[in-house]
Amino acid sequence: MALRTICQEKSRKLGGGISRKFRYWCCKHLFKKIGKVCNIERHAFFGSGKDIEIGEFSGIGLNAHIPKDTIIGDYVMMGPNCFIYPNSHKTDRTDIPMVKQGFTESKRTIIGNDVWIGRDVIMSPGRHISDGTIVGMRTVLTKDFPPYSVVGGAPCRLLKNRKQKNEIDEDRNIDIATRN
Ligand SMILES: CC(C)(COP(=O)(O)OP(=O)(O)OC[C@H]1O[C@@H](n2cnc3c(N)ncnc32)[C@H](O)[C@@H]1OP(=O)(O)O)[C@@H](O)C(=O)NCCC(=O)NCCS
Repeated sequence: MALRTICQEKSRKLGGGISRKFRYWCCKHLFKKIGKVCNIERHAFFGSGKDIEIGEFSGIGLNAHIPKDTIIGDYVMMGPNCFIYPNSHKTDRTDIPMVKQGFTESKRTIIGNDVWIGRDVIMSPGRHISDGTIVGMRTVLTKDFPPYSVVGGAPCRLLKNRKQKNEIDEDRNIDIATRN
């Protein structure tokens, strides 16, 4: 590699590091909560940042749209272009145009711990992504699934489970034991 290319690459990395730190610093002041190690990618949109929480070792992906009142857990990976809708157009009435009906009430989105969201995922309002879930690329997430699910498609469906059935049963037993 030519010296010039190496220098260009180094300065790009250096500049990237500074802007990454700056983005983190901004979010630290805007979000309700942010972990000590988080990566906020470029062109992420999060409005005023009001009531957004993000845990440790998690990221907000390139071009993501994260509305207020979104809770993101620990160890969450988010691919580019993740779009979370907080609400929808009202469409109940047919006597007036939809454009005049306003919006439905906003709903909170909750993303659990240890979740991987692939690229180009769109979420309908009020989704709760359970711990350990993988959301495949290009999923239109309109439903909630149990922990450790691998989901994908439009409309989304359960593709497989990351845990074997006996592991799930053991988890259930632990849950029941700790509740009693
Ligand atoms: C979801 C994912 C992790 C599954 O990978 P995998 O475990 O190797 O699964 P497979 O490729 O064996 O696919 C299993 C089944 O799911 C289907 N499938 C896989 N990914 C899918 C997706 N995104 N949407 C819909 N169906 C999908 C496959 O067609 C296959 O279906 P079949 O059993 O009917 O044949 C992967 O496909 C994916 O989407 N990764 C995200 C990649 C990405 O976005 N990276 C960049 C951002 S970090």
